[in-house]
Order: sequence, then structure tokens, then C-alpha cells
Amino acid sequence: MTALDLDFVRAQFPAFAEPSLAGQAFFENAGGSYPCRQVVDRLTRFYRSRKVQPYAPYAASRLGGAEMDEARERLAAMLGVGTDELSFGPSTSANSYVLAQAFRGMLSPGDAIVVTDQDHEANSGVWRRLAADGIELREWRVGAASGALDPAALGPLLDGRVRLVCFPHCSNIVGQVNDVASISAMAHAAGAVTCVDGVSYAPHGLPDVGALGADLYLFSTYKTYGPHQGAMVVRRALLDALPNQGHWFNASSTAKRLTPAGPDHAQVAACAGIADYVEAVHAHHFGGTAEPRTMAARVHDLQRAQETRLLAPLLDWLAARNDLRLVGPRRPEGRVPTVSLVCARPGEAVAAALAGHGIMAGGGHFYAVRLLQALGIDPEHGVLRLSFVHYTHPDEVARAVAALDAVL
Ligand SMILES: Cc1ncc(COP(=O)(O)O)c(C=O)c1O
Repeated sequence: MTALDLDFVRAQFPAFAEPSLAGQAFFENAGGSYPCRQVVDRLTRFYRSRKVQPYAPYAASRLGGAEMDEARERLAAMLGVGTDELSFGPSTSANSYVLAQAFRGMLSPGDAIVVTDQDHEANSGVWRRLAADGIELREWRVGAASGALDPAALGPLLDGRVRLVCFPHCSNIVGQVNDVASISAMAHAAGAVTCVDGVSYAPHGLPDVGALGADLYLFSTYKTYGPHQGAMVVRRALLDALPNQGHWFNASSTAKRLTPAGPDHAQVAACAGIADYVEAVHAHHFGGTAEPRTMAARVHDLQRAQETRLLAPLLDWLAARNDLRLVGPRRPEGRVPTVSLVCARPGEAVAAALAGHGIMAGGGHFYAVRLLQALGIDPEHGVLRLSFVHYTHPDEVARAVAALDAVL
């Protein structure tokens, strides 16, 4: 299989040529990735020459509106869904908040929702609040040692009352990839729809949401090399069934039904740069273009293979330490390179020590408070999180390991 050309990839990210960042290795990608140059260029162009109200009949405005439409069309095609099924909101937290309001208008007392304790709070608290409206909440719990969600434990929670099953494609702490296709099939067989938080997965390769079978799939473009937006896929049948949350006269607009906040035009337009990036990586490695879904799948597989290679040395080093608790799988397969460690010192303190060694990492609970509690980890103590992606250099991983050796 073709291997990722790391020099080519890194040349697409201005941060790697930025003098003020030189000598620092970035390991907080799960918080937010570096943006690719295609996104930075589009954002800059929009602010310089298209920053007027879009969709009006003068050139700058037409170009701005067309670029917003382009972002939606091209990303939707890569995600394997229809253009009308993708919309942008200010963030995933804002999108899930609106979705929960929409479900509140659709569900009745006695209906049930399944939530997990593995999720980031963005795909948890908004649903749990519906208990105040008579909705029953059922919790699909992680294993206390592994942090894993066992599909066998979901089965008994499903019956004809469950209307919605919410779970992450991958947790922002555990890193293990959940089998969205089979979990969605289980939910569908019980007559429920699924809401999948893809925020921690999408940076590792754009998913084929159509093939995964999720009814709702959310991710944050500021973690997928883009600007600060939340991307939300709502499959058509559900989109039509959920009550409109936008202005009443926009009810028939699929882009506006579930995004009551006025869009950030420049950032929505700049999301087309994410599609440019995928196309550029595809063209470099495979030559030319292909169907958007095919290009996204090939680039996804390149990214994942590279990440698996990158993870191995860190996991090997961890295997030799008995003073650290690794949260999540010990093997690189089936997990993303989001590595959370429980150290003797609080996660934030270790991250601060690493900063002195040129390692940019994070510590804390990362809004997964319920998960840390389920794992018996004091959220105040938190974890140290080293999260990387396909553009991370093997030398940077080696530096992180050396820095860990020095500070722990
Ligand atoms: C797994 C996960 N879900 C949801 C969110 C919330 O995303 P946003 O910041 O776009 O609201 C985050 C943010 O870190 C996250 O890591």
C-alpha cells in the first residue's frame, strides 16, 4: 500500500514553517488541529475580497455564496451523504444543543434515549436534560478498567421505547474506535435512530457516514484542519421529521432548519479548503482525481496507516512503564493516536512540565468528566493527553517520549 509522503503533507500546513512555533512539537491535536494552507488561503481571500452579505446579485457576494455552497457540496460528497444532509453550525456543542431541542419537540413522555458515559459532555448532557420532559434516559456504561463500550451491554437497553441512541465514534480520552455500523444496525433493528459524535474520529480520516449508517453524525472542522465550525450530518428522513428550529419562514431550507445561529460565512466557505486538502493528498499519492467518496476513503486509509505506524513506539515505551496507567487499548490497531495517561502528578502539571521541553500537550478531564469518574480517575487530577495525527513526525514522537522520560 502507498505510504504517506510526510514531507508533502507537512508542506500543506503553514504552522510547520512558522518561526514562532519552531522547535515545538504539537500533541494537542484532539483539542484543535493546525489548519491546512488551503483553508487559511480561502479564509484570507474571503476576508479580503468576498466579505459582504452572500447570495446577493453582485460579484463579490455571488462568489462568497457560491463558495459556501461549494464547501457544503464537496464535503457532503466526501462524507457519502447528500448536500442537503450536511449543515454547519458554530460548534458541535451548539449543534447538539439545537438537535436536543428538536428532539424535545418530537418525542413524548415515555420515550427513551440511550446515552453513554464514554462521551464528551457535548453528546451527553443535552440529551440527559430531556429527562425533565418525561423522557427516560438509559445509560450504556463503559467497562471500569478498559473504558470500552461493549455492544453486548447495549442490547439489553434496547426495546421499542428507545427512539435515539447517542454514542461516540471514538472517545476523546480512550481513543478506541467504536463500530458505528454495527451499533447503528442494532439501534435501527430496535426502531431507534443514532446520534454519533465523530469529533474525535474525523481528524483521523473523513468517515463515509453513508456507509456507517449513522442518522446524525457530528464533527468539528477546527479539529479536521479547517476553521472553527461544527459540521452536522442529518440523514434526510430524520431531517424531515425533526421540527424546524430556525426562523419559521426558513423551515423548508435544509441548511437552516437546524442551525438557528446565523452562519459564519467566511468560515463556512473556508471549509471547502478541507476538501481541497483531501484532493491534494489524493492527487499526490494516487494521481489525479476520483469520485469524492473514493478520494476521501483512500486518504482516510493513508492517514490511518501512518497513525498506526506512529503510535507503535509510544505504546511500546508505555508498555515498559509500570508507574503509568494508559487509558484505552495497548495496541495501535483499532485506536486513534489519542493517548491518555494517568500519572502520579495531575495531568495539567505534567503538561506544564512538558511545555518546558518543547512538547505542546494538554492535561485535565477534557469535558469527559463522566468517563473519568467511571474509570475511577479524579477529574480534578485528570489525565495527560498526547494526541497526534497523520502530520506528526516520527521524530516528534521520539521527542515526546524523551520528554516524558525527563519529567515523569
Ligand atoms: C469528542 C468531542 N465531542 C465534542 C466536542 C465539542 O466540540 P465543539 O468544541 O465543536 O463544541 C469535543 C471538543 O473537544 C470533543 O472532543
